[in-house]
Amino acid sequence: MPSLIDFVRGLPKAELHLHLEGSLEPEQMFAMSERNRIKLPYSSVDEIRNAYNFNNLQEFLDIYYAGMSVLQQEEDFYDLTMAYLKRCKADNVRHVEVFFDPQGHTERGIPFSVVINGINRALEDGKKHLNISYKLIMSFLRHLSEADAFETLKQATPYLELIHGVGLDSSELGHPPSKFVNVFKAAGDMGLLRVAHAGEEGPPSYVEEALDLLDIDRLDHGNRALESDSLVTRLANNQIALTVCPLSNLKLCVVNDMSDHPIQTMLEKGLLATVNSDDPSYFGGYINDNYVALIESVDLTREQAIQLAKNSFSGSFLSPQEKSKYLDEIDAYITQNTH
Ligand code: HPA
Ligand code: ZN
Repeated sequence: MPSLIDFVRGLPKAELHLHLEGSLEPEQMFAMSERNRIKLPYSSVDEIRNAYNFNNLQEFLDIYYAGMSVLQQEEDFYDLTMAYLKRCKADNVRHVEVFFDPQGHTERGIPFSVVINGINRALEDGKKHLNISYKLIMSFLRHLSEADAFETLKQATPYLELIHGVGLDSSELGHPPSKFVNVFKAAGDMGLLRVAHAGEEGPPSYVEEALDLLDIDRLDHGNRALESDSLVTRLANNQIALTVCPLSNLKLCVVNDMSDHPIQTMLEKGLLATVNSDDPSYFGGYINDNYVALIESVDLTREQAIQLAKNSFSGSFLSPQEKSKYLDEIDAYITQNTH
């Protein structure tokens, strides 16, 4: 039998919480800054890496938005996405549901078309050449206004074939889900699925708002939902998937130590928890690194790792047939690796 870590590395899995702009590696950021003649406040790759020390979400976001300024051409968005998909291949990720932040680009004067065409072309190439299926989720920046989100939804309208859902990210505290009720309703009426970051730094009431007012199909993070027993029961009864991000939680001080990570509590309470990397270039690891951190810090068991990998497909936006195909892949992998 392979070691637990090797077993988990090979497990087929899906990633449901990944910001493409958060997969921009320092080397790539530096190269793009030179090729696009964009000045960065760093003079080397090491300096970029050394700047990645955060005490909270906002400190990260300030660096994250500055970093994405190097993304200028369609080719940059293609290269960013393709580099991420190659990392997925190495981690045996079979399906991805990725976020992009159009407002982080359009507010710098980059046309929506440049962003979406670059990303979509890479996702299509990844499906063809790397055999990784995908969904694309357009996130609204919650520190901006709902009117701004509506403008973004309008810009997306010619590209609805390429976009499967909308999300809500950026600075959580002070920007509750209730601020975006109307735009989420409009997105739902257009046939888009809905997810929202909630309960990362925000209180359980933000998770309740996301469920009650935004009618979300999945919850991003959701850690602080654990503070409310009634909310946990509701999430478990309705099997609302939580896209949990362990290394992100550690780097943004949502947990003080990885040994305090609540992933096992979530599973024990019957929540449909999944493991994801969020912004891997900034938080120190891709999806397998997140699983390994849990194995090493909270003694995640083989059964729990299998449950989390299965949850990643069950909690995805794939059709029931596609979900069973991938769940069968997991079962076949387990059979092959049990002796
Ligand atoms: N939280 C909120 N907004 C974000 C994140 C996150 O973890 N990553 C990128 N944008
Ligand atoms: Zn996130």
